[in-house]
Amino acid sequence: MAIERTLIIVKPDGVQRALVGQVIARFESRGLRIAGLKLMRISRELAEDHYAEHKGKPFYEGTVRYMTSAPVVVMVLEGPDAIAAARATMGATNPLNAQPGTLRADFGLNISRNIVHGSDKPETAEREINLYFKPDELLSYERAGDAWLTE
Ligand code: CDP
Ligand code: MG
Repeated sequence: MAIERTLIIVKPDGVQRALVGQVIARFESRGLRIAGLKLMRISRELAEDHYAEHKGKPFYEGTVRYMTSAPVVVMVLEGPDAIAAARATMGATNPLNAQPGTLRADFGLNISRNIVHGSDKPETAEREINLYFKPDELLSYERAGDAWLTE
């Protein structure tokens, strides 16, 4: 199991609906460790950069407006296979297709208000972490029990 880092965002609907604690708790109790965490308002420029791969698609403009509409909580999570583990905890992009027990199924119904973002592969994770965090905002540390999780 490779130790990875992934970028997670509690999207504006998650913050507005007071779900921040529950979203973090699902990742944290699964074993992922918080390496960085902050509340921020995403600028239009940053949202356009983040979602550049979707430019020209019908949902692009709406997604940029939604992501910039209110504060978000962004975090870097670290752990064994953190990218796939976080995506599995999030569930499918469309909450209607997400498995019950995942964040997107349990907290939503609408694909354009799907609570949470998570990086989809190692290159994307590195790019997204650098978009949202400076190196000195990320901490490496051990928690009691972390070594046991990867044995
Ligand atoms: O977020 P994820 O990687 O699961 O999905 P994506 O295909 O990379 O799409 C990025 C985001 O665009 C989604 O999480 C939705 O917020 C939004 N989207 C949408 O509103 N309508 C779609 N048909 C597809 C995506
Ligand atoms: Mg994606």
